[in-house]
Amino acid sequence: MTISMIVGNWKMNTTVDEAEALATQIACGVSDDSNVGVVVCPPFISLVAVQSTLKNSGISLGAQDVHHEVSGAFTGAVSTNMLVNICQYVIVGHSERRSIFRESDAAVNLKVKAVLTAGMTPILCIGESLEEREGGSAEAVVESQLRLGLEGVEAGAGIVVAYEPVWAIGTGRSASPEIAQAMMAHIRQTLVAIGGEEAAAEVSLLYGGSVNAGNVGGYMEQADINGALVGGASLNAESFVEIVRVAAGTG
Ligand code: PGA
Repeated sequence: MTISMIVGNWKMNTTVDEAEALATQIACGVSDDSNVGVVVCPPFISLVAVQSTLKNSGISLGAQDVHHEVSGAFTGAVSTNMLVNICQYVIVGHSERRSIFRESDAAVNLKVKAVLTAGMTPILCIGESLEEREGGSAEAVVESQLRLGLEGVEAGAGIVVAYEPVWAIGTGRSASPEIAQAMMAHIRQTLVAIGGEEAAAEVSLLYGGSVNAGNVGGYMEQADINGALVGGASLNAESFVEIVRVAAGTG
């Protein structure tokens, strides 16, 4: 059984005060008996404050990135050791990390392993650029990112994969549910090839890229989509709560 989930990625937005306020509003709007898991990923500096705001809310906490080493001379970096008592999830390999911070598949793989070793769940992000889609290599690119990201990893219940086509992120140009489902089916098949039917069936697959309350329902209806990774619309409590309600079938 896969877990349905909605994940909010706040990116480099919100001060600590704003993060606490946003978390408070979200916690008020989301019912804790929802059949959809809810995760918010504030900036590192707000994690501790939001952790206390969300206590007993049923909402989980995630980090947006991590360094693969446990400690040492890595100025500015944050390790799994520092996150493990605060977060349950860590976003790894987001396309902004890959393109702006030049993270390679090998670096992403080290992070996935570090997160798993620490006992947290990685949310591994993969997705093709517009150029790659138009050039016909979208499936090959996504499959390669998935295989390299999960190299040496037993992919099963403790893994979440987010398919986020780069051309759909922050553009308002979401992938149609059919396009998203077609890629998700390919991702699921690749997971079967990597770890077998049973393990593949337990990986939650999220769609990400301009998700909002108006389009999330279409993704949730797809056979291989178990939830969404939400950027822009997660910064507004009302729209994020509405996304959760629609995903849970109560919206
Ligand atoms: P968006 O971002 O919802 O603003 O398109 C999604 C993401 O980057 O995770």
